[in-house]
Amino acid sequence: MAGMYSEKVMEHFAHPHNVGEMPDANAVGEVGNPKCGDIMRMYLKIENNMVVDAKFMTFGCGAAIATSSMATDLIKGKSIEECLKLTNKAVVEALDGLPPIKVHCSVLAEEAVKAALADYYRRQGIDPEPFVGKIETSCESCSAH
Ligand code: FES
Repeated sequence: MAGMYSEKVMEHFAHPHNVGEMPDANAVGEVGNPKCGDIMRMYLKIENNMVVDAKFMTFGCGAAIATSSMATDLIKGKSIEECLKLTNKAVVEALDGLPPIKVHCSVLAEEAVKAALADYYRRQGIDPEPFVGKIETSCESCSAH
């Protein structure tokens, strides 16, 4: 079983980075995968257009945990524009690959980052869609408050 996964995936699954809640986050996004029911919540602290901190909570499979861990590592210290360019492909590559049936889990990580950035725009009174595009969140009302 473990042989399906790269060492990096196993490492991030066993010891995920940046796990937890962030009470002073100024951007929070939550997405769910309707296929498997897994949920991912992303907390960001954004200052001067830079993501200075990122944390996540994932109720999901090992690949979802590993990809959220890697995604938070990749966006920390980056500008909002750079974070918007983060693709699930880049996350998978940084993890040295995922089995094909697990690639959809990495999509959750990309969407969680985008959902948090959309929340950030909304809090500034800016319509996020031109920047972030449409995000499928599990529950519209969760990100509306
Ligand atoms: Fe649900 Fe991986 S099986 S995100």
